[in-house]
Amino acid sequence: MTEHLAGKVAVITGGGGGLGTAMGRVFAEAGMGVAALDIDEAAAEGTAADLAESFGVPTTAVRVDVGDAGSIEAAARHVEGTLGGCDVLCANVGVQQFGAIDRLTDDEWSWLLQVNVLGTVRTVRAFLPQIRARDGFRRIVLTASSSVLAPAVRLGAYQTSKFAAMGFGETLREELAGEGIGVTLLFPGGMMTGHLDSSERARPADLVATGAEDDDLTTMLEHRPMGADDVVMPDHAVRNLLADLEADEPYCLTHGSHRPVYEGRRAAMDAAFDRMEGS
Ligand SMILES: NC(=O)c1ccc[n+]([C@@H]2O[C@H](COP(=O)([O-])OP(=O)(O)OC[C@H]3O[C@@H](n4cnc5c(N)ncnc54)[C@H](O)[C@@H]3O)[C@@H](O)[C@H]2O)c1
Repeated sequence: MTEHLAGKVAVITGGGGGLGTAMGRVFAEAGMGVAALDIDEAAAEGTAADLAESFGVPTTAVRVDVGDAGSIEAAARHVEGTLGGCDVLCANVGVQQFGAIDRLTDDEWSWLLQVNVLGTVRTVRAFLPQIRARDGFRRIVLTASSSVLAPAVRLGAYQTSKFAAMGFGETLREELAGEGIGVTLLFPGGMMTGHLDSSERARPADLVATGAEDDDLTTMLEHRPMGADDVVMPDHAVRNLLADLEADEPYCLTHGSHRPVYEGRRAAMDAAFDRMEGS
């Protein structure tokens, strides 16, 4: 079923761990080469070595900071030089910062927007020429979050950044529609990954101020309680990814019980349409 994907190349930012590595396994299992890009070079190398050994596909690892335009452009040149180009791009890096809206500092907002939003934009801009130069199956995956569907308290900066990434993706899908390059927004729910730790490690050394408080996590969980099925391993979260990409679906949901909250928001928007049209 995936024979037509053999020999194609997937590029994954945040490929050194968690969801990015799980995505890498999906593509490598389909016979695709994989470039793992990560600010944690050793982690990226670990993913690349593991995929090459497990699936016998060509891989490469590159250290990249998506917060730095020059870094992602250099990574794109490296991928072109080693794997020959990019057919599927997963702009998957996202950093997390808890904090109440009135406590997060400008520096913290800037960091999240710099990495999660501009990092996504830069990643796409750096690899788009390579994707355009290929033919056949070409896709761009942007990692958003289920918190965009069911926003929670104390996650304001993170959720704002993921809404922005979604806005970028929605526009990108429209802009690339005529070129046969599909854009899929991925909305993961909670996953057992090292996300909080990797965000802490990726945090710029000079970003000392913090609006986080000890009760941020518990307050968030009181607001949006999580059941046993709301946190899964990343391999489970990507079980439908390839099928959704092959069908060129605009949205890929992974798991989680956030549907009622999303439907409440959709009902409020529908009601706003009704009032507007009835006035
Ligand atoms: N874990 C969850 O519960 C969860 C839920 C919803 C969405 N997400 C999103 O999934 C994506 C992947 O996160 P994960 O859970 O796999 O965490 P993870 O920590 O396993 O992976 C994130 C990777 O990004 C890398 N990274 C961080 N800053 C970087 C930078 N500036 N440049 C390059 N690489 C950088 C980290 O080193 C890490 O390897 C993120 O966008 C995250 O926001 C995670």
